[in-house]
Amino acid sequence: MSTLLLLPGDGIGPEVCAEVRRVAAALTPDLEVSEAPYGGSSYDAHGAPLLDEVRDQAIASDAVLMGAVGGPQWANAPRHLRPEAGLLGLRKAMNVYANLRPAYCFEALAGASSLKTELVSGLDIMFVRELVGGVYFGEPRGIETLADGQKKGFDTAVYTTSEIERVGRVAFELARGRTNKVHSAEKSNVMESGLLWKQVITDLHAREYSDVQLEHILADNCAMQLVRAPKQFDVIVTDNLFGDILSDAAAMLTGSLGMLPSAAIGDPNKPGLYEPIHGSAPDIAGKGLANPLAAILSFEMALRWSLKQVEAADVLLTAVKKTLDQGAKTRDLGGALSTVQMGDAVIANIHN
Ligand code: IPM
Ligand code: MG
Repeated sequence: MSTLLLLPGDGIGPEVCAEVRRVAAALTPDLEVSEAPYGGSSYDAHGAPLLDEVRDQAIASDAVLMGAVGGPQWANAPRHLRPEAGLLGLRKAMNVYANLRPAYCFEALAGASSLKTELVSGLDIMFVRELVGGVYFGEPRGIETLADGQKKGFDTAVYTTSEIERVGRVAFELARGRTNKVHSAEKSNVMESGLLWKQVITDLHAREYSDVQLEHILADNCAMQLVRAPKQFDVIVTDNLFGDILSDAAAMLTGSLGMLPSAAIGDPNKPGLYEPIHGSAPDIAGKGLANPLAAILSFEMALRWSLKQVEAADVLLTAVKKTLDQGAKTRDLGGALSTVQMGDAVIANIHN
C-alpha cells in the first residue's frame, strides 16, 4: 500500500489539506494517509518548524503533500526556526531538485485572468524551477558588522555543472512529451552562475537533446514576455530565485493563485514533495474561504508522479475540470462557494 504524508502547516494549509484527505478517501481508499506537524504551528507546539522525526517520516513516505507555511506571527522568530526554514530544509532533505510548476488556464476561468482572455485562453506553461541550490542555499551568507559600524548583508548565487544538468534533463524530457520547446532563463549578461547555466544547458542540449527546440532568454525579458505574450512558452527551465519570481507571475496569468499545484521531484525512486503554489493567506485562514483546488491538483500531481496511479490522476483532473465547467467558484474566482463546498463538488464529480 502506498503512503501519503500530509503536512497541513499554517494559515489556510489545514483547511485545504482536509479537502485533499476527503478527496483521497473517495478516490484512492487504499492510500494510507497520515499527517504530521509542520511550519509555524510546529514551531509553536514543538519548538521547530520541521522536527527530525517528521523529516524522516517524509523521506520514508511515497509522497509528501504540504498545505502552506508562514504567517506574520513568526516574522521575528530566528531565521533557522522560521516556517520557511522548515520548507527549505524539507526540500533539501528530500533532494527534490526539480520543481514542476504548471501554469495552465482552465477554459472556465480564462475570464478571471488580469490579462485579456485571448492572451491566456489555452495557456499551458510548465516551469521547471531548480529547487535545492542557487542563492537560496549558497554559502557564504550572512549579515556582518563592518569596521565603520554599518552592516553588510550578503548571499552567494552558486551552481555546479551537475546541478544544472540534472534539472536541465528534467526540462528536456518533459518538453519531449509536450510541444518540444524549452526556454532557459538566466542572467548570463550579469552573473557568472548565469553564464555557467547557459553554457551547461547549451552543451547538454547539443549532446543529448538536439531534437528539442531550445531558446535562451534573459530572466527579465522572460518576465516581460510572460505578461506580453505568454502562449509563446511551453517549458521554462530556470534557477531557484528566478523560478520563484517568474512562476508567481505566470500563475497569476491563469486567474488565481488558488488554482495552481506544484510537484518537486528528484530521484525517481524517492518521494516527491507536492505543494499548492499559494501561500498561507493568513487574512482568510480559518474562515472556510480558501480555494482547495491547488491542493487537490497537487494531489493529482502526486498520484501521477510519485504514487504511479495515473488513472486515478486522470479521473481527478477530469472531475476538477467538470466542477469548474459547472460554474463552481470560490471567492478568489469571483464566486461564493466555501472550501468544503468546493471539495464536495469535486468529490461528487469523481463518482460520476
Ligand atoms: C515558493 C515560496 C517559498 C520559496 C518560500 C515560502 C520560502 O515562495 O515555494 O515559491 O521562496 O521558495
Ligand atoms: Mg514563491
